[in-house]
Amino acid sequence: MVESYLLFELALRLAYTYTSQREMIVIDHAYHGNTSALIDLSPYKFKGPGGQGPGPWTHTVTMPDTYRGPYRSSDPEAAQKYAREVGELIARLEAEGKAPAGFMAEAALGCGGQVPLPPGYLQTVYPAVRKAGGVCIADEVQIGFGRLDTHFWGFEQQQVVPDIVTMGKPIGNGHSLAAVATTPEIAAAFANGMEYFNTFGGNPVSCTIGLAVLEVIEEEQLQANARRLGERLQQGFRELQTKYPVIGDIRGSGLFLGVELIKDPATLEPAPELAQAVVESLKEEVILFSTEGPFNNVLKFKPPLVITQEDTDRILETLDRILKDKG
Ligand SMILES: Cc1ncc(COP(=O)(O)O)c(C=O)c1O
Repeated sequence: MVESYLLFELALRLAYTYTSQREMIVIDHAYHGNTSALIDLSPYKFKGPGGQGPGPWTHTVTMPDTYRGPYRSSDPEAAQKYAREVGELIARLEAEGKAPAGFMAEAALGCGGQVPLPPGYLQTVYPAVRKAGGVCIADEVQIGFGRLDTHFWGFEQQQVVPDIVTMGKPIGNGHSLAAVATTPEIAAAFANGMEYFNTFGGNPVSCTIGLAVLEVIEEEQLQANARRLGERLQQGFRELQTKYPVIGDIRGSGLFLGVELIKDPATLEPAPELAQAVVESLKEEVILFSTEGPFNNVLKFKPPLVITQEDTDRILETLDRILKDKG
């Protein structure tokens, strides 16, 4: 397969065919791709500029953000409370005579602002979805392939096994490649006589590139690099936080980090203008961050896995200088 959107479409078709249902559950602010069907399932887009609202089969649950969401990290039950919302939604669907085809989510929410799902969230959500006949889809496009340090896949961090996994971006390290994995049972249901075909599916050159990427990740121990340098960056961000109260939250793991900028620690009022100004100043120093999250106030840090300690030190020194000037 060569483009992620093709395989996300395939993932949806797998779910729809296997379950004979259409209703899909997604997390607020999620992004899952750019086709019509996927925009309809991506609150990041359908609620954003130019968006036309959710698709008829889209059901959105609250983003389990334990920093500024309704249930926070001080609440030991926060993960369960967020997860319960999925069960309640399924109960409402069932009351209307409907059932979910599936639940699709990343284990750490990229476009939502680098928000790791709280521990235990998917362990509650997945059984509830399956009990209602739906399948669980893990979107590993941003977080997969060793970026999250301790685990090669994001879903492993949540200690669950999905029914369908979609993979893109890092799988080809810039080459146009993507893949979808599923269970033999779901694949068998899909083999219903309607042949699956696309022009570039299974392209041997792309597959060779994908294998080479996997070898390099292993040989160059890039997952360990993500862990070591991610910890160094987090530590550095924490030191900056003691100097600059505009740093409200630091979150993520490995080289998938978010630094949330705020105006007021009491109200957590977001500081999107500052975040944008910091990103622009970093760009002048050839350091590429972007802003992310519902308020665009999260500095999103998701560098190539090959960065070095020298790079991380320069990032921290530069950020320190910029925050001293602007913070
Ligand atoms: C989390 C996530 N899912 C899916 C996609 C879609 O991938 P593609 O743009 O390769 O179709 C993206 C792209 O940015 C993404 O970030």
